[in-house]
Amino acid sequence: MECVLGIETSCDETSVAVLQGRHVRSSVAASQGDLHARWGGVVPEAAARHHVERLAPVLQQALDEAGATFADLDAIAVTNRPGLVGALVVGLAGAKALAFALRKPLVGVHHLEGHLYSAFLTEPEREIPFPHIALIVSGGHTELVKVEGHGAYRLLGHTLDDAAGEAFDKVARLLELGYPGGPAIDLLAQHGEPGAFALPRAWLEGTHHFSFSGLKTAMLRLVESLPKPLSASTVADLCASFQQAVVEVLVRKAIRAVQSERVSVLTVVGGVAATSGLQQQVRAVAQAEGIEVLIPPPHYCTDNAAMIALAGWFRLCRRERDDYDLDAYANAPLA
Ligand code: KG4
Ligand code: ZN
Repeated sequence: MECVLGIETSCDETSVAVLQGRHVRSSVAASQGDLHARWGGVVPEAAARHHVERLAPVLQQALDEAGATFADLDAIAVTNRPGLVGALVVGLAGAKALAFALRKPLVGVHHLEGHLYSAFLTEPEREIPFPHIALIVSGGHTELVKVEGHGAYRLLGHTLDDAAGEAFDKVARLLELGYPGGPAIDLLAQHGEPGAFALPRAWLEGTHHFSFSGLKTAMLRLVESLPKPLSASTVADLCASFQQAVVEVLVRKAIRAVQSERVSVLTVVGGVAATSGLQQQVRAVAQAEGIEVLIPPPHYCTDNAAMIALAGWFRLCRRERDDYDLDAYANAPLA
């Protein structure tokens, strides 16, 4: 099983990748960020339509960049759960059509399983260290997972309400910073004072769970109470204080999970892992505690098909395959 084509359309990135074994030959992602920016979040119907328009050209570009043709493909891996169903079915229909026409195996991949493998995309020679802890922080998910082996995942904790990325996006909308909120808040936070405003942290002691809705509401009240228009330095201080409140909780809880499970490697994956504030703090704390941290480069933090192809490749190596009538699911547990 050498050459695997990956397809990812679960949210607002149309992405296709070609992997040769564990090596990425190409990975192309067409973001719909601009399309959804005016609404301050992803509009599912618009996302699905856009995937329909983008899938064929993105597929062609991925093949061209890999120097591959359809005849070179040995299998197709596709995200089939969880995600926006209208968006998922576009990639899934494309993957089924290709697999059926080429008479090649099809494998459906859980989107979060893709994120778990994203930490190992840039080191294809490295044996994946098991067990390790993964902090998945994306627009839809905030989870701590114990990765015990290939396909063996134990969910330690999850968010009880908003995901970390969702909190970034909602606060960005509140401050009129556009969508996605992560990059905008991260940039402004670098010019602000993280201690400028006192904001709550939900520690949920004794559990590995998270909660960000209280912080979001506190931000709303705080912004309402401030004189308008907000000055640039106040906005920077708000961003820095908010980001610090999110990052502190993520870092401390991830490190605690690593220590309580007695492992030595932590991966931080998903779109929010691209946040420089999170990266700096998790690296600093981990180094002090003797923990190795793996964070993918930004283009593998956000949704991409390379991670889906890699997760699919490991499944195919275990001789797992799906039928050509594979379905898409909006919700599906990882473990
Ligand atoms: O993993 P992802 O691309 O999609 C989901 O699976 O949800 O994560 C998207 C989230 C958004 O909330 C966005 O605000 C945040 O990740 N994000 C970023 C960056 N790019 C996306 N946060 C910080 N820095 C970035 N460069
Ligand atoms: Zn994702």
